[in-house]
Amino acid sequence: MTQAELKAAAAQQAAQLVQPSMVLGVGTGSTVAYLIAALGKRRATGLTLAAVVTTSNRSKEQLDAVGFKVSPLAAVAQVDLTIDGSDRVAPNLDGIKGGGGALTLEKNVAVNSKRVVWIVDESKVVPRLGGFPLPVEVLPISCEQNFRRFEQEGLQPQYRLTPAGQRYVTHYGNYIIDLAIDPIPAPHGLAAYLDQLTGVVEHGLFLDICDEVIIAHRDGQIESRQK
Ligand code: A5P
Repeated sequence: MTQAELKAAAAQQAAQLVQPSMVLGVGTGSTVAYLIAALGKRRATGLTLAAVVTTSNRSKEQLDAVGFKVSPLAAVAQVDLTIDGSDRVAPNLDGIKGGGGALTLEKNVAVNSKRVVWIVDESKVVPRLGGFPLPVEVLPISCEQNFRRFEQEGLQPQYRLTPAGQRYVTHYGNYIIDLAIDPIPAPHGLAAYLDQLTGVVEHGLFLDICDEVIIAHRDGQIESRQK
């Protein structure tokens, strides 16, 4: 199976977790694009939801196109189930997210969800958290100070750039600094360090957030790992 077929298979399995009248959270990325397509088919055969929230304009446009009305997160009391992709997943279901730059809204939706399910192909599963640049969203007003701080800490920062070589700007007008730490020796310690830095808006360490990961394997098996 190709990687695209694996992503589609994980997404189609996750689409079956969606129950009528739920408040549903829908993430961002190429795997989630298959989820939205599957949800569109279910909607065409009668699925109705209490509300849908999402984590990026890209997903909102796709949800709109298949007929779902998207609400802002602040308009719902709580999300019943959020399904999202992930860039890396460790055996304890901690992950790195934000490869698509949507980490701030992704984390806000996830922590306000009763249940969080990630859909991945097997290439995302790692024995220790790492193997992917760790995104840190920073305010432009103090980005240089935080960049130097990361350099001094040996975290090998790099500004994320657009294909045209400009600094990537998030939905909230911030920059992303990617840290090259592989593997991450103490994810909770690093998360606590980043959480207390002024000017850091959010980071891509998603710890103790995911409840279930659906993994599509090359041999065709679809595995569900639960917390
Ligand atoms: C978006 O910011 C990310 O967190 C995505 O969820 C993650 O990059 C997975 O994307 P793919 O499904 O495209 O690999």
